[in-house]
Amino acid sequence: MTIATTSPETATALNTMLDDVVTGLSQSQKTLPSKYFYDEHGSKLFDDICELDEYYVTRTESALMQTHVVEIAAAVGPEAILVEYGSGSSQKTRLLLEHLDRPAGYVPVDISSEYLAKTGRALQAEFPHINVVPVAADFTEVFGVPNSVPVSARKVIYFPGSTIGNFRRPDAIELLSRMSGVAGSSGGILIGVDLDKNRDVLHNAYNDSSGVTAEFNLNVLRRINRELGGSFDLTGFRHNAIFNPSDACIEMHLVSTRRQTVNVCKYVFEFEENETILTEYSHKYTLDSFRQIAEEARLSVKNTWTDANDMFAVLYLEAD
Ligand code: AVJ
Repeated sequence: MTIATTSPETATALNTMLDDVVTGLSQSQKTLPSKYFYDEHGSKLFDDICELDEYYVTRTESALMQTHVVEIAAAVGPEAILVEYGSGSSQKTRLLLEHLDRPAGYVPVDISSEYLAKTGRALQAEFPHINVVPVAADFTEVFGVPNSVPVSARKVIYFPGSTIGNFRRPDAIELLSRMSGVAGSSGGILIGVDLDKNRDVLHNAYNDSSGVTAEFNLNVLRRINRELGGSFDLTGFRHNAIFNPSDACIEMHLVSTRRQTVNVCKYVFEFEENETILTEYSHKYTLDSFRQIAEEARLSVKNTWTDANDMFAVLYLEAD
Protein backbone atom coordinates (compact mmCIF):
# COMPACT_ATOMS: atom_id res chain seq x y z
CA MET A 1 0.00 0.00 0.00
CA THR A 2 1.41 3.38 -0.95
CA ILE A 3 0.10 6.69 0.25
CA ALA A 4 -0.69 9.23 -2.40
CA THR A 5 0.03 12.70 -1.21
CA THR A 6 -1.29 15.77 -2.88
CA SER A 7 -0.30 17.86 0.11
CA PRO A 8 2.73 20.08 -0.32
CA GLU A 9 6.27 19.23 0.78
CA THR A 10 6.82 19.43 4.52
CA ALA A 11 8.53 22.82 4.35
CA THR A 12 5.57 24.25 2.47
CA ALA A 13 3.11 22.61 4.87
CA LEU A 14 4.94 24.27 7.78
CA ASN A 15 4.82 27.62 5.97
CA THR A 16 1.09 27.24 5.45
CA MET A 17 0.63 26.37 9.11
CA LEU A 18 2.75 29.35 10.18
CA ASP A 19 0.70 31.64 7.92
CA ASP A 20 -2.56 30.27 9.34
CA VAL A 21 -1.33 30.60 12.93
CA VAL A 22 -0.01 34.14 12.47
CA THR A 23 -3.17 35.25 10.67
CA GLY A 24 -5.38 33.71 13.36
CA LEU A 25 -3.45 35.15 16.31
CA SER A 26 -3.40 38.62 14.69
CA GLN A 27 -7.18 39.00 14.76
CA SER A 28 -8.92 40.89 17.55
CA GLN A 29 -10.63 37.62 18.56
CA LYS A 30 -7.56 35.41 18.31
CA THR A 31 -8.27 32.12 16.53
CA LEU A 32 -6.48 28.93 15.51
CA PRO A 33 -7.86 26.57 12.84
CA SER A 34 -9.19 23.38 14.43
CA LYS A 35 -7.58 21.20 11.77
CA TYR A 36 -4.24 21.69 13.56
CA PHE A 37 -5.47 19.66 16.54
CA TYR A 38 -4.77 16.47 14.67
CA ASP A 39 -1.08 15.73 14.90
CA GLU A 40 -0.36 12.17 16.03
CA HIS A 41 -0.88 12.96 19.72
CA GLY A 42 -3.98 15.05 18.99
CA SER A 43 -5.51 12.24 16.94
CA LYS A 44 -4.93 9.87 19.88
CA LEU A 45 -6.48 12.36 22.31
CA PHE A 46 -9.50 12.61 20.03
CA ASP A 47 -9.84 8.82 20.11
CA ASP A 48 -9.79 9.09 23.94
CA ILE A 49 -12.54 11.74 23.80
CA CYS A 50 -14.68 9.30 21.83
CA GLU A 51 -14.47 6.85 24.75
CA LEU A 52 -15.70 9.37 27.35
CA ASP A 53 -19.13 8.86 28.94
CA GLU A 54 -19.95 12.54 28.40
CA TYR A 55 -19.02 12.54 24.71
CA TYR A 56 -22.20 10.98 23.28
CA VAL A 57 -21.32 11.84 19.65
CA THR A 58 -19.29 8.83 18.50
CA ARG A 59 -21.25 6.27 20.48
CA THR A 60 -24.59 7.55 19.20
CA GLU A 61 -23.44 7.67 15.59
CA SER A 62 -21.97 4.15 15.82
CA ALA A 63 -25.18 2.72 17.24
CA LEU A 64 -27.14 4.47 14.52
CA MET A 65 -24.90 3.00 11.83
CA GLN A 66 -25.25 -0.47 13.35
CA THR A 67 -29.02 -0.32 13.45
CA HIS A 68 -29.39 0.89 9.87
CA VAL A 69 -26.27 -0.43 8.14
CA VAL A 70 -28.16 -2.61 5.64
CA GLU A 71 -30.22 0.34 4.44
CA ILE A 72 -27.20 2.65 4.50
CA ALA A 73 -25.11 0.20 2.45
CA ALA A 74 -28.00 -0.04 -0.02
CA ALA A 75 -28.00 3.77 -0.38
CA VAL A 76 -24.25 3.69 -1.15
CA GLY A 77 -24.96 0.98 -3.73
CA PRO A 78 -22.88 -1.76 -5.41
CA GLU A 79 -19.32 -1.38 -6.74
CA ALA A 80 -18.90 2.11 -5.30
CA ILE A 81 -15.69 3.81 -4.26
CA LEU A 82 -16.00 5.03 -0.71
CA VAL A 83 -14.02 8.26 -0.20
CA GLU A 84 -13.75 9.02 3.51
CA TYR A 85 -12.96 12.58 4.57
CA GLY A 86 -10.87 12.69 7.75
CA SER A 87 -9.52 9.63 9.56
CA GLY A 88 -10.62 6.08 8.88
CA SER A 89 -9.74 4.21 12.03
CA SER A 90 -13.24 3.87 13.34
CA GLN A 91 -15.67 1.04 13.90
CA LYS A 92 -18.16 2.94 11.74
CA THR A 93 -15.89 2.62 8.70
CA ARG A 94 -15.28 -1.08 9.32
CA LEU A 95 -18.97 -1.73 9.70
CA LEU A 96 -19.76 0.07 6.47
CA LEU A 97 -16.96 -1.66 4.54
CA GLU A 98 -18.20 -5.04 5.80
CA HIS A 99 -21.68 -4.36 4.44
CA LEU A 100 -20.91 -2.71 1.11
CA ASP A 101 -21.68 -4.73 -2.01
CA ARG A 102 -18.37 -5.37 -3.86
CA PRO A 103 -16.82 -1.92 -3.24
CA ALA A 104 -14.46 -0.75 -6.00
CA GLY A 105 -12.17 0.95 -3.51
CA TYR A 106 -11.76 2.71 -0.20
CA VAL A 107 -10.00 6.08 -0.23
CA PRO A 108 -9.36 7.56 3.24
CA VAL A 109 -8.31 11.21 2.99
CA ASP A 110 -6.57 12.65 6.04
CA ILE A 111 -4.35 15.57 6.94
CA SER A 112 -2.29 13.50 9.41
CA SER A 113 -0.10 11.29 7.23
CA GLU A 114 1.40 9.25 10.11
CA TYR A 115 -2.02 8.36 11.42
CA LEU A 116 -3.31 7.67 7.92
CA ALA A 117 -0.47 5.25 7.20
CA LYS A 118 -1.22 3.27 10.33
CA THR A 119 -4.98 3.04 9.90
CA GLY A 120 -4.67 2.48 6.13
CA ARG A 121 -2.40 -0.54 6.71
CA ALA A 122 -4.71 -1.94 9.38
CA LEU A 123 -7.79 -1.63 7.17
CA GLN A 124 -6.01 -3.12 4.15
CA ALA A 125 -5.03 -6.14 6.28
CA GLU A 126 -8.62 -6.57 7.50
CA PHE A 127 -10.15 -6.11 4.04
CA PRO A 128 -7.69 -7.75 1.63
CA HIS A 129 -10.29 -7.82 -1.17
CA ILE A 130 -10.83 -4.02 -1.03
CA ASN A 131 -8.43 -1.70 -2.82
CA VAL A 132 -7.35 0.71 -0.03
CA VAL A 133 -5.83 3.92 -1.42
CA PRO A 134 -5.01 6.46 1.32
CA VAL A 135 -4.57 10.09 0.31
CA ALA A 136 -2.64 12.46 2.60
CA ALA A 137 -4.34 15.79 1.95
CA ASP A 138 -6.27 18.61 3.52
CA PHE A 139 -9.79 17.89 2.31
CA THR A 140 -10.72 21.57 2.54
CA GLU A 141 -8.29 22.10 -0.37
CA VAL A 142 -8.52 20.63 -3.86
CA PHE A 143 -6.98 17.14 -4.00
CA GLY A 144 -6.81 14.37 -6.57
CA VAL A 145 -8.13 10.84 -6.20
CA PRO A 146 -5.27 8.60 -7.46
CA ASN A 147 -5.85 6.71 -10.71
CA SER A 148 -5.30 3.35 -9.02
CA VAL A 149 -9.05 3.45 -8.37
CA PRO A 150 -11.32 3.01 -11.42
CA VAL A 151 -12.36 6.41 -12.78
CA SER A 152 -15.74 5.18 -13.96
CA ALA A 153 -16.86 3.86 -10.57
CA ARG A 154 -19.56 5.65 -8.64
CA LYS A 155 -18.09 7.70 -5.80
CA VAL A 156 -19.69 8.16 -2.43
CA ILE A 157 -18.12 10.56 0.02
CA TYR A 158 -18.28 9.39 3.63
CA PHE A 159 -18.01 12.27 6.11
CA PRO A 160 -18.84 10.88 9.57
CA GLY A 161 -18.39 12.27 13.07
CA SER A 162 -20.13 15.59 12.45
CA THR A 163 -16.85 17.12 11.32
CA ILE A 164 -19.07 19.34 9.13
CA GLY A 165 -19.89 21.03 12.45
CA ASN A 166 -16.39 22.53 12.55
CA PHE A 167 -17.22 24.79 9.63
CA ARG A 168 -19.10 28.06 9.76
CA ARG A 169 -22.16 28.19 7.57
CA PRO A 170 -20.57 29.62 4.35
CA ASP A 171 -17.57 27.30 4.66
CA ALA A 172 -19.81 24.30 5.30
CA ILE A 173 -21.77 25.11 2.15
CA GLU A 174 -18.56 25.48 0.14
CA LEU A 175 -17.20 22.17 1.45
CA LEU A 176 -20.48 20.39 0.65
CA SER A 177 -20.42 21.71 -2.90
CA ARG A 178 -16.80 20.66 -3.34
CA MET A 179 -17.69 17.18 -2.09
CA SER A 180 -20.52 17.13 -4.56
CA GLY A 181 -17.97 17.99 -7.25
CA VAL A 182 -15.75 15.05 -6.21
CA ALA A 183 -18.75 12.68 -6.06
CA GLY A 184 -20.03 13.83 -9.46
CA SER A 185 -23.61 13.63 -10.68
CA SER A 186 -23.85 9.84 -10.23
CA GLY A 187 -22.34 9.83 -6.74
CA GLY A 188 -23.51 10.86 -3.30
CA ILE A 189 -22.54 11.99 0.19
CA LEU A 190 -23.08 10.01 3.39
CA ILE A 191 -22.70 12.44 6.25
CA GLY A 192 -22.99 12.40 10.05
CA VAL A 193 -24.53 15.49 11.62
CA ASP A 194 -24.75 16.26 15.33
CA LEU A 195 -28.16 17.63 16.31
CA ASP A 196 -29.02 20.51 18.63
CA LYS A 197 -29.96 19.28 22.07
CA ASN A 198 -30.10 19.94 25.81
CA ARG A 199 -27.52 22.59 26.81
CA ASP A 200 -26.19 20.62 29.80
CA VAL A 201 -25.58 17.55 27.67
CA LEU A 202 -23.68 19.71 25.17
CA HIS A 203 -21.76 21.54 27.88
CA ASN A 204 -20.61 18.31 29.54
CA ALA A 205 -19.61 16.71 26.24
CA TYR A 206 -17.11 19.54 25.63
CA ASN A 207 -16.05 20.15 29.24
CA ASP A 208 -15.52 16.56 30.36
CA SER A 209 -14.73 15.83 33.99
CA SER A 210 -11.51 13.91 33.27
CA GLY A 211 -10.01 16.83 31.33
CA VAL A 212 -9.28 14.95 28.11
CA THR A 213 -10.94 17.65 25.98
CA ALA A 214 -8.83 20.26 27.81
CA GLU A 215 -5.67 18.28 26.93
CA PHE A 216 -6.86 17.99 23.32
CA ASN A 217 -7.42 21.75 23.15
CA LEU A 218 -4.08 22.64 24.77
CA ASN A 219 -2.24 20.20 22.51
CA VAL A 220 -2.52 22.66 19.62
CA LEU A 221 -0.22 25.03 21.58
CA ARG A 222 2.23 22.19 22.22
CA ARG A 223 2.22 21.48 18.49
CA ILE A 224 2.89 25.14 17.63
CA ASN A 225 5.78 25.16 20.11
CA ARG A 226 7.30 22.04 18.57
CA GLU A 227 6.70 22.63 14.88
CA LEU A 228 6.86 26.42 14.63
CA GLY A 229 9.22 27.26 17.47
CA GLY A 230 6.50 28.74 19.65
CA SER A 231 6.94 29.79 23.28
CA PHE A 232 3.47 29.03 24.66
CA ASP A 233 3.53 28.20 28.36
CA LEU A 234 0.77 25.59 28.60
CA THR A 235 0.19 26.40 32.27
CA GLY A 236 -0.76 29.94 31.23
CA PHE A 237 -3.87 28.80 29.36
CA ARG A 238 -6.99 26.91 30.36
CA HIS A 239 -9.70 25.18 28.37
CA ASN A 240 -13.25 26.52 28.16
CA ALA A 241 -16.10 25.41 25.89
CA ILE A 242 -19.26 27.50 25.69
CA PHE A 243 -22.48 27.26 23.72
CA ASN A 244 -23.17 30.16 21.38
CA PRO A 245 -26.96 30.18 21.02
CA SER A 246 -27.15 32.63 18.13
CA ASP A 247 -25.09 30.33 15.87
CA ALA A 248 -26.15 27.09 17.60
CA CYS A 249 -22.57 26.02 18.10
CA ILE A 250 -20.12 25.04 20.78
CA GLU A 251 -17.06 27.28 20.79
CA MET A 252 -13.85 25.95 22.29
CA HIS A 253 -11.51 28.55 23.70
CA LEU A 254 -8.09 28.65 25.33
CA VAL A 255 -8.19 31.31 28.02
CA SER A 256 -5.01 33.16 28.96
CA THR A 257 -4.83 32.97 32.74
CA ARG A 258 -2.61 36.06 32.94
CA ARG A 259 -1.20 38.91 30.92
CA GLN A 260 1.61 37.41 28.81
CA THR A 261 3.69 37.62 25.66
CA VAL A 262 4.11 34.64 23.34
CA ASN A 263 6.52 34.25 20.42
CA VAL A 264 5.89 32.13 17.37
CA CYS A 265 8.94 32.10 15.13
CA LYS A 266 9.79 35.81 14.76
CA TYR A 267 6.23 36.98 15.56
CA VAL A 268 5.16 38.36 18.93
CA PHE A 269 1.65 38.15 20.41
CA GLU A 270 0.36 39.91 23.51
CA PHE A 271 -2.37 38.37 25.66
CA GLU A 272 -4.47 40.20 28.22
CA GLU A 273 -5.59 38.29 31.30
CA ASN A 274 -8.72 36.28 30.29
CA GLU A 275 -8.22 36.97 26.61
CA THR A 276 -9.09 33.87 24.58
CA ILE A 277 -8.04 31.98 21.47
CA LEU A 278 -11.05 30.51 19.68
CA THR A 279 -9.87 27.07 18.60
CA GLU A 280 -12.98 25.25 17.37
CA TYR A 281 -16.59 25.62 16.35
CA SER A 282 -18.87 22.62 16.64
CA HIS A 283 -22.19 23.51 15.05
CA LYS A 284 -25.33 21.68 16.08
CA TYR A 285 -28.04 21.39 13.44
CA THR A 286 -31.71 20.56 13.25
CA LEU A 287 -32.81 18.34 10.36
CA ASP A 288 -34.32 21.46 8.87
CA SER A 289 -31.31 23.77 9.30
CA PHE A 290 -29.07 21.11 7.77
CA ARG A 291 -31.41 20.57 4.83
CA GLN A 292 -31.16 24.31 4.20
CA ILE A 293 -27.36 24.35 3.92
CA ALA A 294 -27.47 21.19 1.76
CA GLU A 295 -29.88 22.98 -0.56
CA GLU A 296 -27.54 25.97 -0.74
CA ALA A 297 -24.91 23.50 -1.98
CA ARG A 298 -27.45 22.14 -4.53
CA LEU A 299 -27.81 18.85 -2.70
CA SER A 300 -30.98 17.01 -1.78
CA VAL A 301 -31.45 14.88 1.31
CA LYS A 302 -32.41 11.39 0.02
CA ASN A 303 -32.36 9.45 3.32
CA THR A 304 -32.34 10.40 6.99
CA TRP A 305 -31.52 8.07 9.86
CA THR A 306 -31.76 9.30 13.47
CA ASP A 307 -31.61 7.65 16.90
CA ALA A 308 -34.65 7.40 19.18
CA ASN A 309 -33.59 10.51 21.14
CA ASP A 310 -32.79 12.63 18.06
CA MET A 311 -29.23 13.18 19.22
CA PHE A 312 -27.53 12.58 15.88
CA ALA A 313 -28.42 12.10 12.22
CA VAL A 314 -26.84 10.22 9.36
CA LEU A 315 -27.96 11.59 6.00
CA TYR A 316 -27.52 10.48 2.42
CA LEU A 317 -27.34 13.38 -0.05
CA GLU A 318 -27.28 13.55 -3.82
CA ALA A 319 -26.76 16.41 -6.24
CA ASP A 320 -30.03 17.98 -7.42
C1 AVJ B 1 -14.42 15.67 15.37
C2 AVJ B 1 -15.18 17.86 14.97
C3 AVJ B 1 -16.74 16.16 15.38
O1 AVJ B 1 -16.78 18.84 17.22
O2 AVJ B 1 -17.37 17.18 18.47
C4 AVJ B 1 -14.51 16.81 20.21
C5 AVJ B 1 -14.12 17.44 17.75
N1 AVJ B 1 -13.80 18.77 19.84
N2 AVJ B 1 -14.37 17.44 21.38
C6 AVJ B 1 -16.60 17.71 17.68
C7 AVJ B 1 -14.15 17.66 19.23
C8 AVJ B 1 -13.95 18.62 21.15
C9 AVJ B 1 -15.38 16.88 17.22
N3 AVJ B 1 -15.41 16.66 15.76
